[in-house]
Amino acid sequence: MQKIAIIPGDGIGIEVTREAVNVLELLNKERSLNLKLVHFDFGAEKYLATGISLPKEQLEDFRKNYAAIFLGALGDPRIPDMAHARDILFGMRFGLDQFVNFRPVKLFNEKLCPLKGKSCDDVNFVVFRENTEGLYVGVGGLFKKGTKDEIAIQESVNTYKGVERIIRYAFDYAKKNGHTKVTMSDKNNALRFEGDLWQRVFNEVGKEFPEIEKEHWFIDALAMQMIKRPEQFQVIVTNNMFGDIVTDIGAQLQGGLGMAASGNINPNGVCMFEPVHGSAPKYAGKNVANPFGAILTAGLMLEHLGFKQEGAIIEKAVRIAVEQDKTTQDLGGKFGTKETGEFVCNIISKKDF
Ligand code: NAD
Ligand code: IPM
Ligand code: MN
Repeated sequence: MQKIAIIPGDGIGIEVTREAVNVLELLNKERSLNLKLVHFDFGAEKYLATGISLPKEQLEDFRKNYAAIFLGALGDPRIPDMAHARDILFGMRFGLDQFVNFRPVKLFNEKLCPLKGKSCDDVNFVVFRENTEGLYVGVGGLFKKGTKDEIAIQESVNTYKGVERIIRYAFDYAKKNGHTKVTMSDKNNALRFEGDLWQRVFNEVGKEFPEIEKEHWFIDALAMQMIKRPEQFQVIVTNNMFGDIVTDIGAQLQGGLGMAASGNINPNGVCMFEPVHGSAPKYAGKNVANPFGAILTAGLMLEHLGFKQEGAIIEKAVRIAVEQDKTTQDLGGKFGTKETGEFVCNIISKKDF
């Protein structure tokens, strides 16, 4: 038996997680996956009521006793500094050393792509976002706060070990999956120090993969190229901040934030899976959020746990729902979150698609 922690979180995270859980429970039962889904209420409500975000002991429990974690989304307007969300999200990403943020950009149907004349083959690549360093480490501070002399410093921390392991992971992934090119993106024309390290490590690790083409784009140009010629990309590797930004662009290429799935991977530890989108407070509780990103994330999680067929079943069911316009409004459909999730479950139950 493998235990999966389920943390719906806040806002639409709660609604989309419900649908993803229904799909997981269905496959668990029908295909005897032997998973035990354990539900946790970490999020804004709990934090506001008790001050608890993510206790240290809980992180240890996840580390020791769980096969994976599924997270909906975090963020609540009542907590403007996102204190609870950072504790929970970064608590897991950093605390469980999930240094790979794996974000596939995969278009399921041409009609969802905002670009003219692009097919599903044209929009199909993966982004590896470094997930434990860079501007996200929280090094810095506010000095003379509240005065006209105030100084805000936010440092970008890049270690040899951290850069090496994400770049190596991207090359290994490319090799294993038959890709012929890895694209590294930084901003070394302006950010000389971190750029210098990323460039050197990319060249050094790249030498171990002579069969794989190495390409470099400055991050601003990469953002432009993702729109201009997305078909040129196979595997992109970049830092934490740039990866955050370009994967929102990637999400839009797939039809919007509601379509994008992701995994926070520690290759030797417990991984956490979450849709790329946030808690979208203005849509919370209205049954309008697109659950596909969360459902596809459940598929990524199953694949990661070794259930490749079940991951493929989920993807196929979503493709069918999109094809038949059984979708939420963001994709042009008339369904609510719940109806969309139910439709996916019905397709999976039929077993004959
Ligand atoms: P968001 O992703 O929550 O929403 C941005 C917009 O994208 C929405 O207004 C909506 O138009 C669209 N959208 C997103 N998800 C959708 C879905 N499932 N279906 C349909 N449309 C969808 O980003 P935001 O508004 O910048 O952030 C809201 C809160 O979420 C903030 O507190 C932010 O910090 C947080 N956030 C959390 C995560 C996470 O938990 N991993 C990720 C991103 C943002
Ligand atoms: C994401 C989100 C988070 C990030 C926020 C909520 C801190 O935007 O997962 O993409 O920046 O990593
Ligand atoms: Mn983001």
